[in-house]
Amino acid sequence: MKHYIDFHEDVSFDDLNYLLEIASDMKKKTKTGVKHHILEGKSLAMIFTKSSTRTRVSFEVGMYQLGGQALFLSNDDIQIGRGETIHDTAKVLSGMVDGIMIRTFAHQDIVDLAKYGSIPVINGLSDDQHPTQALADLLTIQEHKGGLKGLKLAYVGDGNNVTASLLQACAKAGMDISCASPKGYTAGQKYVDQALEDAKVTGSKILMTEDPFEACDGADVIYADTWTSMGQEEEKAKRVEIFKDYQVNSKLMGVAHKDAIFMHCLPAYRGYEVTEDVIDGPQSVVFDEAENRLHAHKAILVNCFTR
Ligand code: CP
Ligand code: NVA
Repeated sequence: MKHYIDFHEDVSFDDLNYLLEIASDMKKKTKTGVKHHILEGKSLAMIFTKSSTRTRVSFEVGMYQLGGQALFLSNDDIQIGRGETIHDTAKVLSGMVDGIMIRTFAHQDIVDLAKYGSIPVINGLSDDQHPTQALADLLTIQEHKGGLKGLKLAYVGDGNNVTASLLQACAKAGMDISCASPKGYTAGQKYVDQALEDAKVTGSKILMTEDPFEACDGADVIYADTWTSMGQEEEKAKRVEIFKDYQVNSKLMGVAHKDAIFMHCLPAYRGYEVTEDVIDGPQSVVFDEAENRLHAHKAILVNCFTR
């Protein structure tokens, strides 16, 4: 059975090629109106204990376009919110649906859902990782740059869930990745080690630094995310102070390649992690990136349900 919980563990080099190929194919079919009801009769339960616009809409519409159906299960409405265990929820849902997509706080809850259930589980974001975003990001880079191998992505800001999955995904794809974060806010060493492990195979270069200019030097892609992730709201004032030198602005974009693209998983907070002129400027591909969530997620669904 194929889960999609952790990019390093669940996506082999072959899987990555397959996923990107299927995602491009899904995109073509969607744009040209070619029916692709590959998952006819299949149901996906979608559990959300955190907010979402892109992840929810793309998985729900994706299932519909694949001929299946998706059920939106908010924490406020299902019994998990009243204390029913992950163990029991996994067993119950395994008897009724074909797969589960979950967005929640503790990464371990997602791992447990897969452990106790008997159907594929997709990680729609945890405090630690955001692997569905990373696939859509690779698809976007491939489309704009004509390939992945040898390109350099620079991530600037909080070493969070998005950074962890980008480290895993870039190393797997043979891209160089540099991450600039303030001391104490770098991505977990576990993810750096995993990236270094795959880099031995793919030739990627990994750089962890506190200097955003060093990270962005000669980059093909500059990537930002919010300084305050879901669940950290009460730390916002403190974080704005800590991250103030980690804003992606035109000066920072100036040290990247002239044709570098700007990416952001969204939602974005203009004037904080990125200036308006950059995110709304000609180098920004953030809305292509958001749309690609749909196409990438359909590839993930097909991979989990049919392989
Ligand atoms: N990028 C992303 O995951 O967006 P949502 O929080 O809107 O799903
Ligand atoms: N790091 C952000 C990503 C949102 C898609 C968060 O976890 O809130």
